Amino acid sequence: MKIVYEEPVNEKVCLNEDDLGFGRIFADRMLEMDYTPEKGWHDPVISAYHPLSLNPECMVFHYAQEIFEGLKAYRCEDDSINLFRIDRNAKRFFDSAVRMAIPPIPETTFIELIKAYVDKTRAYVPYRFGNSLYIRPFIIATDNGLGVHASKNYRFVVISSPSGAYFKKGLDPVSIYVEDKQIRSAPGLPGFAKCGGNYAVSIKAGEMAKMKGYDQVLWLDGVEHRYIEEVGSMNIFFYIDRKLYTSACTGTVLPGVTRSSIIDICKEKGISVFEEKLSIDELVALLEKGKVMEIFGSGTAAVISPVGKIAYQDKEYIINDFKTGVLSKALFDEITGIQWGRIEDSHGWISRV
Ligand code: COI
Repeated sequence: MKIVYEEPVNEKVCLNEDDLGFGRIFADRMLEMDYTPEKGWHDPVISAYHPLSLNPECMVFHYAQEIFEGLKAYRCEDDSINLFRIDRNAKRFFDSAVRMAIPPIPETTFIELIKAYVDKTRAYVPYRFGNSLYIRPFIIATDNGLGVHASKNYRFVVISSPSGAYFKKGLDPVSIYVEDKQIRSAPGLPGFAKCGGNYAVSIKAGEMAKMKGYDQVLWLDGVEHRYIEEVGSMNIFFYIDRKLYTSACTGTVLPGVTRSSIIDICKEKGISVFEEKLSIDELVALLEKGKVMEIFGSGTAAVISPVGKIAYQDKEYIINDFKTGVLSKALFDEITGIQWGRIEDSHGWISRV
């Protein structure tokens, strides 16, 4: 696809890598590509970062027809830039689009555009191990009008943010609150898609958990309010009796890229992995018997987030003495090692820009 480059690249960038935070500062480049019924997805442009100009009646503001992705670019010691399993993001973006009645971008085009964007934005990829360029591609419905139907026109945008750890606590354990009233998804809803609506419905419970002193919400299934699905904006894993459990991706759970990498790595290490239902009652019983060795969340932004405490119906359970577990740390080291090019990529997960 022919890409138009509108501005010269700013090669001199000075980042304060001690205090990047997450998603607070943005590279001065963005990519845009429009969809029209006549031309399909066409004429991508990489230009200077700028605000979007949209009418107040633009459909995305009212009916939330939009999707997004999250992936990172990592600077290696030899100055090359790594992307991690970008084919997975391309596929999930495609699947999210289909679910939200948005014309999907072919996976090969998505990969080509992200690589071209990262190449032009490489000056913003941080140098310090642990810091990376968080890339946020998204599509919004751009028709003007208040009728409820699929938009005819769309815009694909890519922005990026030089970022540090997602959680201030880094790899230190967080505390989670089991939400047994509000739900994040249910069969038939787009729980597997990365659409803003899934995050919007989670905010209230997140705020309530914070008011009670917890960092994150643990979501149960939307029908019986029994089976564990996700934590906050991450997948969740339970290391019980040297076996690893996580909820299956059967439509209501986000198919995380880090999730799938953890499963592959653990299987290679000889750890049995079960993608199956675990009810909150079973978990409580196992916690009471002291059988739960570790619990951790996983996601692109946070990588691994150990869970040190769980609260369910006015009772609190401490996991692994509120310490980062051996498996959580080993997985964090292995995944980040591959991402930053410090450990050999035997899986073919890395593509270089
Ligand atoms: C990610 O891990 O990339 C996410 O999408 C989480 C996010 C909503 C910050």
